[in-house]
Amino acid sequence: MSFSIPADVKIFEVGPRDGLQNEASLVSVEDKIELVNQLSNAGFNNIEVGSFVSPKWIPQMANSTEVFAGIDRKMGVTYSALTPNLKGLHAALDAGVDEIAVFAAASESFSQKNINCSIDESINRFKPIMSEASKHNIPVRGYISCVVGCPYEGEVAAEHVANVARPLNDLGCYEISLGDTIGIGTPTSIVRMISTVCLSVPVKQLAIHCHDTYGQALANIYAALQSGIAVIDSAVAGLGGCPYAKGASGNVATEDVLYLLHGLGIETGIDLKLAIVAGNYISGKMNRRNQSRVAQAMKL
Ligand code: HMG
Ligand code: MG
Repeated sequence: MSFSIPADVKIFEVGPRDGLQNEASLVSVEDKIELVNQLSNAGFNNIEVGSFVSPKWIPQMANSTEVFAGIDRKMGVTYSALTPNLKGLHAALDAGVDEIAVFAAASESFSQKNINCSIDESINRFKPIMSEASKHNIPVRGYISCVVGCPYEGEVAAEHVANVARPLNDLGCYEISLGDTIGIGTPTSIVRMISTVCLSVPVKQLAIHCHDTYGQALANIYAALQSGIAVIDSAVAGLGGCPYAKGASGNVATEDVLYLLHGLGIETGIDLKLAIVAGNYISGKMNRRNQSRVAQAMKL
């Protein structure tokens, strides 16, 4: 497989959702709204604002309806949310989402821990979501967690990822985000996994979603770019983690990804300094340091 690095790359900013879903302290509606507005002003065109999941499972996302109601909607920006079932989809539609995401896993144990059902059951659960979303002209993104490793089962075979990517693609997900949930991958395992999934789903429909637990995220993203992937999920300030993936640290920091991409001469349309300001803002609200190395170096 040989591809050149894409000239244009889409950054899918997951900070307000993946970044904040695992925080011990609840972030207020006002602070979330300000974060989303700062992100749209920085030039992000894809912002995952929250999720419509059970508040018993993820209390941090319980105020997603209020967040959607309060943000300044900027033309050209897609404001999206996770929806695990029809109840979530209906709440998301009421909130006026532009796009939704369903989320599955490549490992059975993680699927059970995260969404309380098997992989096959999850695919079946997505079917009515897809048809209802289609009636409302809402595009659906698909996530797959644990694409190289699982906190409960260890190494995950690339074929298992392809076996989930295929039905998600067949159901009509316009894009499938491949999540290294516990940040355990290296360029070798990431490229092997992408090469296998590409046999089932065109690379143009794939995104890479790296957590930085083992400090490999930027190397893995570079390898994914060389494999032809042109969509990168990231979170400002390197916020994040998944409550059902013990030890999973933050997402790769958006500021670091932007620095890499701009250094490679790749267009993103995002203002790095304004992204750092947004990352600093939310870090300040959580009394922590911005985890992005670029943000730390630039000291804005
Ligand atoms: P369940 O307990 O099997 O569901 O959970 P249930 O249908 O039996 O319902 C139980 C209760 O939840 C009921 O309330 C429902 O009404 C309520 P009760 O009658 O007990 O008062 N409920 C809901 N409430 C609000 N919104 C909803 C909803 N659905 C049910 N949509 C369920 C199944 C899927 C709902 C649950 O497991 C859940 O919400 N899971 C979400 C887990 C989650 O959000 N994980 C993090 C996101 S995934 C991730 O981070 C990975 C990713 O970043 C990629 C990567 O890094 O790998 C995407
Ligand atoms: Mg994640």
